[in-house]
Amino acid sequence: MGRIPLENPRVIYDLGCGSGNVTRLLADRWHDANVIGMDNSPEMLAQAAASGDGMVPGRVRWEEGDLAGWRPAQTPSVFFSNAVIQWVPDHHELVPRLWNTLPPGGCLAIQAPLSWDMRSHQIMRETLANGGAGGQPVGSAELRSAVGNRWVQDPDFYYDLLAPEAGHLDVWTTEYQHVLTGDDAVLEWVTGTGLRPILNGLEDGERESYLEEYRSRLNLEYPKRPDGVTLYPFRRLFFVAVRR
Ligand SMILES: C[S@@+](CC[C@H](N)C(=O)[O-])C[C@H]1O[C@@H](n2cnc3c(N)ncnc32)[C@H](O)[C@@H]1O
Repeated sequence: MGRIPLENPRVIYDLGCGSGNVTRLLADRWHDANVIGMDNSPEMLAQAAASGDGMVPGRVRWEEGDLAGWRPAQTPSVFFSNAVIQWVPDHHELVPRLWNTLPPGGCLAIQAPLSWDMRSHQIMRETLANGGAGGQPVGSAELRSAVGNRWVQDPDFYYDLLAPEAGHLDVWTTEYQHVLTGDDAVLEWVTGTGLRPILNGLEDGERESYLEEYRSRLNLEYPKRPDGVTLYPFRRLFFVAVRR
């Protein structure tokens, strides 16, 4: 948000707004803007609406929509999206669709986890490929193929899509050192995010043996330190682009 170089955007969409925490920060930063939080989860939107507009009554609205295929009702000044596009397929289509909907001077600002090459996620796929009894694959071929699909691309992919029409383009990655505590800390972390499609795609019984094998491989890769902490390096991709 701090890297968006717009003084006075009129209409800001927070795409995949979740419970609206960042939506309200956007509204607090730009006091004259109309801010629309959009998400495909009615439960998230209900939470967002229940927590009220805070300091900005009337300026924040909530809208249900699926980012795959979605188009805005109002001309946007900013599309902001934090930790969402990793759940949306086909960035060849998604990113140009959003980008081409912006008028000159409009801004696309996105953050997504860049987890494909991280050891935790490689091991996740390896355990599916060879973590069964006797080194056999786990789960269905469809699941392994779906999980083998990379959704968030490397920074140059987004640069190439945006640069030809960008007046301002800032693309960067940051690796955070997460300081986790407790047993099986990395497993706990990925269970809430990247592991979900695998857990949902495995049958009862398979799921438990997969988890046991994945847990022991993860703990070898990310050992708990003598002070009880597990360090988990986690890489994120950011881009902020303004249309010419
Ligand atoms: C990790 S949360 C991030 C929430 C918020 N952006 C934040 O930073 O706090 C991801 C959100 O993306 C939403 N989401 C996932 N797929 C979506 C889609 N296809 N269209 C719209 N929202 C989606 C989820 O419902 C969830 O609220």
